[in-house]
Amino acid sequence: MKLSHRITHINEGGSDGWEVFDRAKRMIADGIAVTQLTIGEHDIRTDPTILAAMNASATGGHTGYASVPGIPSLRDAVAARLSERTGVPTRRENVLITPGGQAGLFMAHNAVCNPGDVALFVDPYYATYPGTIRAAGAVARPLRTHAKDAFLPQAQELEQLAEGAVSLLINSPNNPTGVVYGRETLEGIAGVCREQDLWLISDEVYDTQVWKGDHISPRALPGMAERTLVIGSMSKSHAMTGSRCGWIVGPEEAIAALADLAVTTTYGVAGFVQDAALFALNAGKEFEEQIAAPFRRRRLLAQKVLGNQQVVGLLPSDGAMYLMLDIRSTGMSGEAFAHALLEEEHIAVMPGESFGIAAAGHIRVAMTIADAEFEQALKRLCDFAAAISGRESKRA
Ligand SMILES: Cc1ncc(COP(=O)(O)O)c(C=O)c1O
Repeated sequence: MKLSHRITHINEGGSDGWEVFDRAKRMIADGIAVTQLTIGEHDIRTDPTILAAMNASATGGHTGYASVPGIPSLRDAVAARLSERTGVPTRRENVLITPGGQAGLFMAHNAVCNPGDVALFVDPYYATYPGTIRAAGAVARPLRTHAKDAFLPQAQELEQLAEGAVSLLINSPNNPTGVVYGRETLEGIAGVCREQDLWLISDEVYDTQVWKGDHISPRALPGMAERTLVIGSMSKSHAMTGSRCGWIVGPEEAIAALADLAVTTTYGVAGFVQDAALFALNAGKEFEEQIAAPFRRRRLLAQKVLGNQQVVGLLPSDGAMYLMLDIRSTGMSGEAFAHALLEEEHIAVMPGESFGIAAAGHIRVAMTIADAEFEQALKRLCDFAAAISGRESKRA
């Protein structure tokens, strides 16, 4: 029996960059001690107080079907959070609770794209993006960015690419680059969206992980609230990756239509998970800062280590739990470097090529291991790169 084109082509055109990741997993399974700098997940588990709230909700009876668009109290809490942090008045009717940010990305593309429509996304990109767009039946068109611009989208290039497209997906703070889009970049993007009548899907799942400056949501820019769907999540801000709880915030009409989509797909998010998310949101900014603190610390450690050498370049790492390192001076591709580093040093990093063409010659380092081990691994990585570039320059 034949499967649909849509479902069999979700991963079409994906890179092989996952080989390093898979190889590291096999080495670990074989008992080899590998330092894992690939994983985009906290090295702590969900806080026991959140789990206690989840347990109290479940044992208290919240195990039946929950309200499909989200329980009113959580929708209100998300609305209040966005009103306060972006200045855009946001009501319950602007919020749909989803099973994580990933479901939000899929649903948002379904909401704005008809089959065959062109949906833009920024390269380098979070690994699921092109597949998510294709899963929604749209055509994924990358906007290539450049290392010289710190991988920030350039409005002029966007303008040229946007002809005939219906949406643009952006992500700030960014995975994989760790770069945060400033006001100028966002205004440039917003201008093109307004001129070319594009929906903006703004993935803000790392909004609590900003190390320099402030997180700016493009929904707050003039004329953008009516054309922006913000994707949010409890995963990164509250170390609740496994709970699968996130949201889409957008115009009321879009959220009402998305609620119909939720009825036919997810049928909502478990009530006890939503109660736990509400408890976690009510813990306030201090708790979010506590969750983000290890990455803030490790970024400073990385700046110190990388500041002591000249071989490996560090992109402005202003947010999220990742660093993007430029290893082009070794003469190797990101993929070749990552394989060699794994083989010789037993350190696993993601090749830039895993995240698209734009980040070739780079590697992504996740700051998700204990500080001392992280600092050591970075030092070894830099020494390794220095040894290779020494070899290369002798050869030249
Ligand atoms: C940029 C980005 N968006 C969305 C997600 C999905 O997160 P979740 O579905 O856990 O909310 C991730 C997860 O790593 C991510 O890095």
